[in-house]
Amino acid sequence: MNIIYYNDGEDNAYWLAGLRAALPHADIRLWLPGNDKPADYALVWKPPAGMLAGRTDLKAIFNLAAGVDALLGLGNALPANVPILRLEDAGMGMQMAEYATHAVLHHYRRFDEYARQAQKQEWRYLETPLKRDFTVGIMGLGTLGRQVAQALLHFGFPVRGWSRSRQSVSGVRCYAGRSQLDEFLEETKALICLLPATAETAGILSRDTLGQLAFGAYLINLARGSHLVEADLLDALDSGRIAGATLDVAAQEPLPPGHPFWHHPRVTITPHIAAATLRDDTVRQVTEKLLAFDRGEAVTGMVDRHNGY
Ligand code: NAP
Ligand code: GLV
Repeated sequence: MNIIYYNDGEDNAYWLAGLRAALPHADIRLWLPGNDKPADYALVWKPPAGMLAGRTDLKAIFNLAAGVDALLGLGNALPANVPILRLEDAGMGMQMAEYATHAVLHHYRRFDEYARQAQKQEWRYLETPLKRDFTVGIMGLGTLGRQVAQALLHFGFPVRGWSRSRQSVSGVRCYAGRSQLDEFLEETKALICLLPATAETAGILSRDTLGQLAFGAYLINLARGSHLVEADLLDALDSGRIAGATLDVAAQEPLPPGHPFWHHPRVTITPHIAAATLRDDTVRQVTEKLLAFDRGEAVTGMVDRHNGY
């Protein structure tokens, strides 16, 4: 079996060692420009267009991440009929639940305000809202959104979720489709975005959406920068409509020097680390799926190119 591999920004020696140990009979090679030898499978994260263009020899492409926006963004440089599989959890669900829980509790328990008080050596109690007045809304009830929901339910928050098709998640009030978006947003005090970046979800965190949340709500974007209209968030923060935001992703990554988010007193920025791709979990999942797929068995995590995720 021949496998080509490209993993943007990662330690290739470390990854290749893990992959070769898991698939000892395969010839796994780091793809370099001009390397056009036939291959059965491609394992990729943010590959250059030249890697996959015209590669009708491939049986499948494995995306080494949950989001396939960068891969599908290659457009015509992707071979048309080759199946694409994405990562499902692979250790990201727990990380996402940790990050989201931290962010929600941070806002709920008013830690930013206590930090500002501490700078002034001010010892003063601030009232914590009632949980029933602090509804958490999760956009995207997929692999990651569901795990975030479970973690927040554990702390007693009312949790609601929104998805494209109707989902049922124990303890979560579920909404589906554009027709139920307004209802989902109303009363939401902390909005967590865990949607895939698709044509339908681009710019979904806009003035309109933010304006429908409970007054003084918090935004937590853990998905992609393309979901957020950054100028609309800045306006909403200035007007007080949005009390604060925690952003793990940005339209341009790395966030450029001088970007207003860096210094905004009510914006917390992290460098796209909410859920990292973990080598060992990823290698285990990709190996199992690849071998099953090769035997002609059904595997999960197939990407629907039409839907974009
Ligand atoms: P997933 O399992 O595919 O779940 C996606 C969810 O979004 C599903 O519930 C889906 O609805 C919903 N959705 C898709 N399009 C929609 C639309 N137009 N309107 C309403 N809901 C829509 O994906 P996942 O594994 O949970 O990952 C979600 C995203 O997280 C990834 O795409 C990636 O961008 C991001 N991510 C970020 C990091 C980070 O470190 N910041 C790490 C990993 C992933 P249905 O249930 O109806 O299909
Ligand atoms: C990371 O952002 C991913 O999509 O896995």
